[in-house]
Amino acid sequence: MTDPKRLHVITWGCQMNVYDSARMADVLAPLGYAPTATADDADMVILNTCHIRDRAAEKVFSELGKLRRIKDARAEAGHRTVLAVAGCVAQAEGEALLERAPYVDIVLGPQTYHRLPEMVARAARAAGAVIETDFATVEKFDALPEQAATQGLTAFLTVQEGCDKFCSFCVVPYTRGAEMSRPAMAVLAEARRMVAGGTREITLLGQNVNAWSAPGTDGSTWGLADLVRALAAIPNLLRIRYTTSHPRDMNDALIAAHRDIPALMPFLHLPIQSGSDRMLTAMNRRHTADEYRHLVGRLRQARPDLALSSDFIVGHPGETDADHAATMALVRDIGFAQAYSFKYSPRPGTPAAGAPAQVPEAVKDARLQELQAALRDSQAAFNATSAGQIVSVLVTGPGRRPGQMGGRTPALQPVHFPGSASLIGTEVPVKIVATTPTSLSGILDPGFLVEELARA
Ligand code: SAH
Ligand code: SF4
Ligand code: F3S
Repeated sequence: MTDPKRLHVITWGCQMNVYDSARMADVLAPLGYAPTATADDADMVILNTCHIRDRAAEKVFSELGKLRRIKDARAEAGHRTVLAVAGCVAQAEGEALLERAPYVDIVLGPQTYHRLPEMVARAARAAGAVIETDFATVEKFDALPEQAATQGLTAFLTVQEGCDKFCSFCVVPYTRGAEMSRPAMAVLAEARRMVAGGTREITLLGQNVNAWSAPGTDGSTWGLADLVRALAAIPNLLRIRYTTSHPRDMNDALIAAHRDIPALMPFLHLPIQSGSDRMLTAMNRRHTADEYRHLVGRLRQARPDLALSSDFIVGHPGETDADHAATMALVRDIGFAQAYSFKYSPRPGTPAAGAPAQVPEAVKDARLQELQAALRDSQAAFNATSAGQIVSVLVTGPGRRPGQMGGRTPALQPVHFPGSASLIGTEVPVKIVATTPTSLSGILDPGFLVEELARA
């Protein structure tokens, strides 16, 4: 028996980091590490970092300063704390991170966490710190343990790592390495384990997940549509989603899958970044705004209730008022159900960071405000269309107020309604009686209640 030890993981960044944090906990479980909610009593702390925007590294050092104080206090009380920095800042900074924070024991990139047990052992033996920042993607997935812990009612499943697109502004190809798709067999096995553990909704993850392509169970090469179809056959897996998709990789088979596979939810996160063709070219996105409009038209033809989400960047180098106006026009044309928007943030080592014509901060601020106001209106309008409708809700837990349950619609809108905890983990029909710009509230469909009573 290994001694029980406590592990605290702090996760920043995208859903892929959320998935990775859960896997790091899995690989450490056989060493006796069980999760704890605070750093104060942890024998090991992992800070899983993100490098996508803003002063990512500064934020890491400020958090590390706090963790160092905890580590020192615990050392005085005779306890050792292993401090690890993982994720995209660890990958980007490597050695430099240790120079500035020599009290860190382990620095590991996103493709090496399967080697954590060995790193922990080395850190315990050696006086110095341990660094692992290879891109060992294939080895990583092969070496992961079969998950034991239950992943929750809704869970993420990474099916693809890395990115080969090299958008002008983005660090991901440098921090996550080359694009790699996991074989269908491995994905299906992991999904079945998750469902056996109680998961009812799976979101497939990848930076270009719609470009997923790998050997299928029949030996032929599958695309994401084939993978979704195979997943949909797993009993008790009620809902399937995937994110993030690139407009260029949205193929006919996947569009048809939205029409033909009921478990595939009618929600699509399809980042466009800008509505200006000049900016799309500068960003190396390799499609036009009208191609995006046309694609959305085809998707809506296949699935009329499809809710669309997107990402936008304002103030990419060279962006003019006319370019920004083109983004505003696109937002009005599409009618997004929700979207994320960011001020362009220069990332070290990316082409756009060194480009001339950087946009002044005040201009970025003004453009972001205007865009976010329009996106808020668009989301409110989308939510308002749910009033009076009966929507299917996957119940995930208690709602906002006592006596309420909460969950999400197929379009990912949060819903609250009076109900009992026995509904958790099931899909129920809810009649929407009120909407806000960001959520819905309702009552269980009276017809459903009658059926329930009849069954009881
Ligand atoms: N693979 C996804 C994006 C991953 S990053 C895609 O291709 O869409 C998530 C979002 O962060 C991006 O869509 C973009 O809108 C934003 N982002 C990335 N780099 C950024 C930067 N340097 N400044 C501001 N926003 C950025
Ligand atoms: Fe970054 Fe572009 Fe790759 Fe998305 S597609 S991760 S924005 S380089
Ligand atoms: Fe951030 Fe890395 Fe994800 S930079 S957004 S954690 S891929």
